[in-house]
Amino acid sequence: MKNILVTGGAGFIGSNFINYILEKNPDYNIVNIDKLTYAGNLENLIPSQDKKNYKFIHGDITNSDLINYLFEKYELEYVINFAAESHVDRSILSSKEFVTTNVSGTNTLLDVARKFNVKKFIQISTDEVYGSLGKEGFFTEDTPLSPNSPYSSSKASADMLAIANYHTYGLPVVITRCSNNYGPYQFPEKLIPLMIINALHDKELPVYGDGKNVRDWIYVTDHCRAIELVFEKGENGGVYNIGTSTEMENIEIVKLILDYLKKSESLIEYVQDRLGHDRRYAIDSSKIKTTLGWSPKNSFEDAIIKTIDWYINNKDWWNRIISGEYMEYYQKLYNN
Ligand code: NAD
Ligand code: TYD
Repeated sequence: MKNILVTGGAGFIGSNFINYILEKNPDYNIVNIDKLTYAGNLENLIPSQDKKNYKFIHGDITNSDLINYLFEKYELEYVINFAAESHVDRSILSSKEFVTTNVSGTNTLLDVARKFNVKKFIQISTDEVYGSLGKEGFFTEDTPLSPNSPYSSSKASADMLAIANYHTYGLPVVITRCSNNYGPYQFPEKLIPLMIINALHDKELPVYGDGKNVRDWIYVTDHCRAIELVFEKGENGGVYNIGTSTEMENIEIVKLILDYLKKSESLIEYVQDRLGHDRRYAIDSSKIKTTLGWSPKNSFEDAIIKTIDWYINNKDWWNRIISGEYMEYYQKLYNN
């Protein structure tokens, strides 16, 4: 049995990862610590919640005493750190929580992990730490970090602390940097679920700037499979980029969603651009493909339809979300 501390496992990617890994690996013991911020939702974990090798802890990764206690009590040997404030627009409104959780929280986890001699510490990072690309080129693992938003700056800081722990103390850290994910349980503030839900309500779809910013999209399960491989075989001190070379302009995705839902393009509303909006992200993932044998299994064409259908079939899930705090935030963002 492997005793693994997963952080932020009630969020979008963390919950998909836990559901995926426990289905596949009955010999993993998962302890999931999550603060249950606005983005955390225990409903995402219904497929795992009754498993004997799954335990949920409501807590904060900045709480050093709690993390120490969990390491002792559950004899933890591995950490996979998903916990983060993850939305760029929120980081533009206020960066405080981003520094607290993403930087200080990661530092706390690294300190405790070192004390307990963990066998592997996976830091779930993002391609956004590399900054923005022009029309040409790709991010490789050697691209210098050049984050532009408070969110990506906080993630880059966490990466540097993780690397410092490897170089200074020999902590077996591995970093993954993935591109934009989509799929079930994504909080409806991110582009794809927001546009699906607005379209279903015949509400305007707010497209920032000219709508031609480019992201490299990956279906969440393909990301989970990549993390699994990095966890099992990743080289300590290494960085692994994860992406599918599915570059899409935002406006293409919005039109595709409208087309599938048989809604009019007149719902599209071009709104003021995001401050400091990164133009293009594109990932070179040849390292994880050649060294760990990873490749994505889902094509964008199929997985985006699967995702839209999931939101159509899970209205209760997102109705509960959008009737609460999220709406206040949404109104604040667009009334500013
Ligand atoms: P999310 O916002 O959906 O989930 C984050 C989770 O972390 C939530 O459950 C939240 O309650 C929890 N959390 C926040 N602060 C915490 C704290 N102090 N202590 C404990 N738990 C806390 O985010 P996501 O989209 O699932 O992203 C997960 C990770 O993957 C993040 O580290 C993010 O930077 C990274 N990432 C995301 C994407 C993407 O497209 N969503 C792409 C690449 C990397
Ligand atoms: P987002 O899902 O917030 O991910 P990230 O900023 O981390 O890449 O946004 C994806 C792209 O969609 C980004 O270029 C901003 C754009 N966008 C909109 O045009 N309108 C929106 O309402 C949102 C949330 C995003």
